[in-house]
Amino acid sequence: MNFTILRFDSIDSTNAEALKQARRGADEGLYIVAQQQTAGRGRHGRAWISPRNAGLYLSVVLRPKIDAKYLPLITLASGIAVYETLAGLGLKPDIKWPNDILINEKKIAGILAETTETEMGLAVTVGIGINLSSRNFPSTIASTATSIEAEIGRLVASSELEESVTRFFGHFYEIVTAGDGQQKILREWRRRSSYFKGKSVRVTLENESIIGITDGLEPNGALRVRKDDGDVAIIHAGDVERLRST
Ligand code: BTN
Repeated sequence: MNFTILRFDSIDSTNAEALKQARRGADEGLYIVAQQQTAGRGRHGRAWISPRNAGLYLSVVLRPKIDAKYLPLITLASGIAVYETLAGLGLKPDIKWPNDILINEKKIAGILAETTETEMGLAVTVGIGINLSSRNFPSTIASTATSIEAEIGRLVASSELEESVTRFFGHFYEIVTAGDGQQKILREWRRRSSYFKGKSVRVTLENESIIGITDGLEPNGALRVRKDDGDVAIIHAGDVERLRST
């Protein structure tokens, strides 16, 4: 993938900017990176607190030529890229479906994929946020989130992370968009996520929550959860929470 870079000192949200650029006709591979976001956004309408120099905030414009039903696999591929970036620093990450990156069950990175219609067809933006430092974490996330600095005891330059995550992203994006890539990405995801199978979870959906044991992924990346009554729920979007077995 050929990358073009747009750098900002401060921006509302790199994802919002990437969507804007996509609607203006940006090519695949444009990425936006900022030192700080003033309105960083997370999944399900949540905010992504993005203080200056405390995280990597990056969003890539994509124009994937794959069947729309496989688009969720792009977010799985992005999670794998972040996983590899962190593993390269000596960390032992895990991926919680669909794409929260955890270290010892604390969140260190998140991914938000959004789509928009453009004159050139559907565009996808993948936004990646990786916590570099947790010194100024708000108290609301202090016990559930972590950062590279907290885990390895030194501050890693955001430029180093940017180089690594874009390299891995390019690699796994090529796989997911290749002819036989869908199965490959599922296999790659499976071996990096303890949530793939056999994990006791609660999944919070818009109007209900489901409790069960994870039971693999569907071909399009949806999570299978086997409930107590034996039925399998197919989860396309939801918040997964690990339940401790007592
Ligand atoms: C989540 O786990 O809720 C997803 C968080 C995604 C945050 C990143 S930071 C860069 C990009 N710009 C945004 O506004 N959000 C994403």
